[in-house]
Amino acid sequence: MRLLVCGGAGFIGSNFVRVRLRDHGDDVVVLDKLTYAGRRENLDGLDVEFIHGAIEDPGAVATAMDGADAVVNFAAETHVDRSIAEPDAFVRTHALGTYTLLEAARERAVRYLQVSTDEVYGSIDEGSFTESSPLAPSSPYSATKAGADLVVSSYFHTFGLETVICRGSNNYGPYQYPEKLIPLMVLNALHGDPLPVYGDGMQVRNWLFVEDFARGIGHVLEHGTPGEAYNVGGPDECPNIDVVRRILALTGAGEDLIEYVTDRPGHDRRYSLGSEKVRALGWEARVRFEEGLERTVVWYRDNPAWWEPIRSGDYRAYYERQYGRSLG
Ligand code: NAD
Ligand code: TYD
Repeated sequence: MRLLVCGGAGFIGSNFVRVRLRDHGDDVVVLDKLTYAGRRENLDGLDVEFIHGAIEDPGAVATAMDGADAVVNFAAETHVDRSIAEPDAFVRTHALGTYTLLEAARERAVRYLQVSTDEVYGSIDEGSFTESSPLAPSSPYSATKAGADLVVSSYFHTFGLETVICRGSNNYGPYQYPEKLIPLMVLNALHGDPLPVYGDGMQVRNWLFVEDFARGIGHVLEHGTPGEAYNVGGPDECPNIDVVRRILALTGAGEDLIEYVTDRPGHDRRYSLGSEKVRALGWEARVRFEEGLERTVVWYRDNPAWWEPIRSGDYRAYYERQYGRSLG
């Protein structure tokens, strides 16, 4: 297949491209704006055509989509804390960007997969969300992602475009920008910096190893029914404080590094995804949290050349703004 992968220079997108080239021999074009979170280096050594551009730019999208059999859209602003501080780019990329891609896909009748998130359903105290649960997002991040999902569905219902939506739970693994919980805590533990736990640390996330999500997206692209959404949830749930304690044990750092800090406004308490629908298509998560977390810690420990430029660059200023203290 000739695939256009939007946002393919980010964390999940670059892992997806790696899996598609390795296991399926696809022909891949990446369109990416290279925001602070997107890095050309994430695709080093991979045989892809790279186009530097934004999904809200119709000209860049037209060039990138020519000849594609399918579009997979990862391009997004992805950090909840940044969406609280500065929502502007979230609205622009998720609303205008998704619409621009859909219009180009409609003109060319190209199959379209939207990468979405469990956060569109909001928080759930017990049980798990199914694809028919109502959308009830809490943050500007999840609200704009939910809006994008609805526009995607409208292009199926109104114009007959072949669309599918894939809603993943919290991903972790190699190449994740260190603003997110797991890489942030791993790098802070390796450096002896405090580990900032929001609120009481008892919020629960449903952890999904990034390669499992990448395989799930490919599976839905090939076997999903047009017009449908598919949840792709991880095999394990874990409260944040337990994640942090496991990271401290794996890095050999002490629990005295744990620091409870002011909670995130509107913080969702628990995410949990039911994935029966995608399992019925033949997908299954392969990596349990214990194994995936260990692999992730080893990857960060062994790849300082990947994170050193981030940790010594703009990320320092972001960290100071967000946490009111500097990194050591
Ligand atoms: P990321 O922040 O690592 O990467 C996002 C990529 O999109 C970057 O390469 C960035 O440069 C690019 N991008 C941003 N705005 C763009 C624009 N306007 N035009 C073109 N490119 C643009 O994010 P990620 O964690 O890899 O997430 C990828 C997708 O998966 C997102 O849609 C996100 O909502 C979804 N998702 C993420 C998770 C998670 O836990 N990280 C879970 C479920 C779903
Ligand atoms: P995050 O990685 O930002 O993902 P999301 O908010 O999309 O689930 O956060 C995961 C959980 O970790 C969430 O409950 C917030 C919490 N968290 C902290 O306690 N401290 C931190 O410094 C960060 C970044 C997150």
